[in-house]
This record gives sequence, C-alpha cells and structure tokens, in this order.
Amino acid sequence: MSLAGDAEIRDNWPEDPWQLLAEWLPSNADPARPVMTLATAADGIPDARTLLLSEWDEHGLYFHTDSRSRKVRQLAADPAVALMLHFPESARQLTVQGIAEPAPTDELRRAFRARSAYLQQLAWQNTIEFAGLPLADRLRAWAAFRDDHADGFGQPPTWTGYLVRPTRLTFWIGNPDTASRRTEYTRTADGTWTVSLLAG
Ligand SMILES: Cc1cc2nc3c(=O)[nH]c(=O)nc-3n(C[C@H](O)[C@H](O)[C@H](O)COP(=O)(O)O)c2cc1C
Repeated sequence: MSLAGDAEIRDNWPEDPWQLLAEWLPSNADPARPVMTLATAADGIPDARTLLLSEWDEHGLYFHTDSRSRKVRQLAADPAVALMLHFPESARQLTVQGIAEPAPTDELRRAFRARSAYLQQLAWQNTIEFAGLPLADRLRAWAAFRDDHADGFGQPPTWTGYLVRPTRLTFWIGNPDTASRRTEYTRTADGTWTVSLLAG
C-alpha cells in the first residue's frame, strides 16, 4: 500500500510528529532534496523564499545559505519562521512553525559535502559582484573557478545553515474523492505534543 493510503486510512495518529516526518520526507541520503518555502517576519514585515531542505533529524529541519544574505539578517532580528513543503504528486502539504538557530559546525560540514558540485561552486561564486558581470564574463569566471580547483575545494567562510526546531507541524492531505484534512501537532511547554484534526 502506498504511503498516502497508509496515512489516509490511519485512525489513530501517532503521538509524535516525527513518525509522520519519517513517512513524508526522503531520507537524508537521498540526493533529491525537497524544496520548501522559508517565511521570515523580521520587524513584522513578511518575506519568503525557496530553499532546499538539506536534512532533518530528531531536532528539526535544516537549511543552508550564505551568511551575507538577507534572510540571515532577518533571522538575527527574529528567529521565528515558517516552512512550507508541498508534495503535489501525493497531494500533501507540510507547514512547520518554529525557531531557527545556527546549525552545529559538523552539520554545516556534512551538508556542504552533500551538496552537488554545482551548488558547492555556487556557494563560492554567488556574490553581487559576480551577478553584475556580463554573461560572457560570468561563464568565463565560472569555468576558471573549476579549472583552478580541479583538485576540489572546501566550504567558503560564508557557508552557514540553520536548524528549525518545530513548535507546530500541520500535515495536510488532499483526496480528490473527498474533503482534504489536516493533522496538527503543537508542542507543549513540557515538550510533549498536542494533536488535533482540522478541516483541510
Ligand atoms: C528551487 C530553489 C532552491 C533554492 N535553494 C536555496 C538554498 O538551499 N539556499 C539558499 O540560500 N538559496 C536557495 N535558493 C535561492 C533563494 O530562493 C533566494 O533567492 C536566496 O537564498 C536569497 O534569499 P534572501 O535574499 O531572502 O536571503 C533556491 C532557489 C530555488 C528556486
């Protein structure tokens, strides 16, 4: 039976959302990473952008970025975030509210090594100066970097990442034959989870 079927027929939802995350998210070893929207709200002004979910574990969900980016400034001002993952092929949506904190050094290293060669290079060359070059110069500079680093390269000093520790997770499941519905997990003060069923 498919995972969607398992989830749809489940009468008793697990007490812990991590069991559902394990069903919904690919393993960290899978090179095809899910895309998610990261919403920030520094100074009460909403902002959002697409990111890759680099990995997840029993603490939460991780993403990686450039330490000079706008989102990093926004997170320093207000670490409260929302993440939204949409899985159209299985009619699912996962929304996470949580608090972002800097990811540990060993996780940053592991996540950089797991990035594709293209994304590793992008982490070095994704600057405003580079973006301002004419296309011919950008192509040349990109190829020159590869030639100059034929033996490989490590992570740039601007490589950074965050762990989002969830405070609320909402699992939405659509069904073309009946109404969609949501199962929501809210973290309580003592670290346990309250589960509620919501209309889709
Ligand atoms: C499919 C897709 C995946 C992306 N993944 C990342 C990512 O993992 N990390 C990242 O910093 N930017 C990623 N970006 C670029 C961001 O959407 C964004 O443009 C960039 O991080 C700057 O955002 P900021 O100005 O809000 O900091 C991705 C964009 C797309 C379209």
